[in-house]
Amino acid sequence: MRLRISLTIFFLLLAGRTTYASTFCARLKLQPDAWVAARVNALVLAAHTLFNNDNASDAYKRTVNGIATTLRQCKLTEDQSFISHYREFIEYIEALSLDQQPDHELGFIVPDKQYFEETRQYVQIPEFLLDPNFLRAVSRYETLDQAKSYLRQLNSKRESNEQLIFFSYKSRHLGTPDNDDSYRRLLIVVPGNSQKGIPEKWVQFGITDPGARVHIRNVSVVSAMLNPDGTNNTYFKDFYRTYMRDGSIRIKGRWELGYGDDNCVLCHKSGILPIFPVDGSVSSGEQQEVAEVNQRFLSYGTLRFDKYLDASRFGPGLATASLADRGGRFGAGFDETVVAHAMNCAACHKPDRLGSLNWPMDKTIINSFITGGQMPRGYTLKDKGRSALYEKLIQEYFATDNARPGILKSWLLGQLR
Ligand code: HEC
Ligand code: HEC
Repeated sequence: MRLRISLTIFFLLLAGRTTYASTFCARLKLQPDAWVAARVNALVLAAHTLFNNDNASDAYKRTVNGIATTLRQCKLTEDQSFISHYREFIEYIEALSLDQQPDHELGFIVPDKQYFEETRQYVQIPEFLLDPNFLRAVSRYETLDQAKSYLRQLNSKRESNEQLIFFSYKSRHLGTPDNDDSYRRLLIVVPGNSQKGIPEKWVQFGITDPGARVHIRNVSVVSAMLNPDGTNNTYFKDFYRTYMRDGSIRIKGRWELGYGDDNCVLCHKSGILPIFPVDGSVSSGEQQEVAEVNQRFLSYGTLRFDKYLDASRFGPGLATASLADRGGRFGAGFDETVVAHAMNCAACHKPDRLGSLNWPMDKTIINSFITGGQMPRGYTLKDKGRSALYEKLIQEYFATDNARPGILKSWLLGQLR
């Protein structure tokens, strides 16, 4: 009896929900522009808030998932008229929704499991970096020199075009996945051979700080595999070391061990990233290696993500606004200023070069490359100019003003076609 009553209530509720949904959808379809405008505003605001504050991810998630649910429930993605008006919006929500699913933490089109299965050959840590003595030496700052001697010894037996390039440095951008406060790294670039189908691998060990009790576990790999058309495909994987009681060290995938994963591409827009270390953290004997790996990065040409991500779904990036738009936003005469001239990021950070700097993106990296003086290339701006440049670029991208929407909003509303 109880069961029957509760079932009845359940079906009544369900019916209520269905009618609510269909009335809601019917109303939405009468005035899709109003709904889209409101949701685009909410989305851009939530993204801007999260860009500035890592703690705002719940609100952002709700916004993205809410829009995705409505698109699905109201079958808007099957509505030809809606699609033709709002193609960018639909595709963007699809792309942003990927890493909201628990089995798509990497944010790729396929589930994480499938990605790691299919790309194993590209991201394995080379056998010679799994030598037990090397692993022990590389686990601590105090024994890093021993680890480097081992690498030098390997180099003495390798051909000139197979020389490992390596150096240690402190990251100015982020800790390791297992410790937010750990910034020391050893980076080893292992040359590939495209004729033999061997990718170039950038293998990065997190190094335990001097005196720290708990060992750092993470080891990351990014690889670049040359395509026949001259572009490179990039592949990603994090590994975790397990320090056994008997002193041995085991390595397995971080995701496989159950420690989740990250959306690498939201920071790695250009596939592999150049290294911009903390000033003074690279010894004078290793400065040359930093320059060399950064030069190597530039030689890859356009980096892509194979069939796992279509970066064009994320739209135009920072600094793609027109001069007229800028004049309107920042005042007449603005385009004469040094800051305006420096808003040229998209000359190089565009789809067929370094990749667009678009949402989702990481504030720390953008901010650091601008205020740290690396970007834009070829400009010497004073500190004040640099912070103005940063602020203007961000404002121009995320503005939700109806009269003067920013880059992201304009694109989502189909106004940039
Ligand atoms: C929050 C931003 C961020 C995320 C997310 C991120 N990285 Fe990175 N990664 C960086 C930055 C910045 C560098 C450049 C070195 C530095 O400044 O620390 C870097 C460098 C690396 C390097 C050294 C080679 C290179 O590209 O310079 C590897 C390997 C690497 N990351 C792997 C990964 C993998 C694998 C993932 C995803 C599981 C990932 N990263 C996610 C920011 C990030
Ligand atoms: C003339 C070409 C050029 C311009 C203009 C330029 N960059 Fe770059 N950018 C590069 C190159 C090349 C690199 C790789 C590091 C290097 O070689 O200095 C890079 C690296 C970066 C990186 C780290 C890698 C990545 O893709 O995330 C960021 C962030 C960045 N630039 C931001 C900017 C911003 C913001 C602007 C505009 C204010 C800008 N850049 C203007 C060429 C350029």
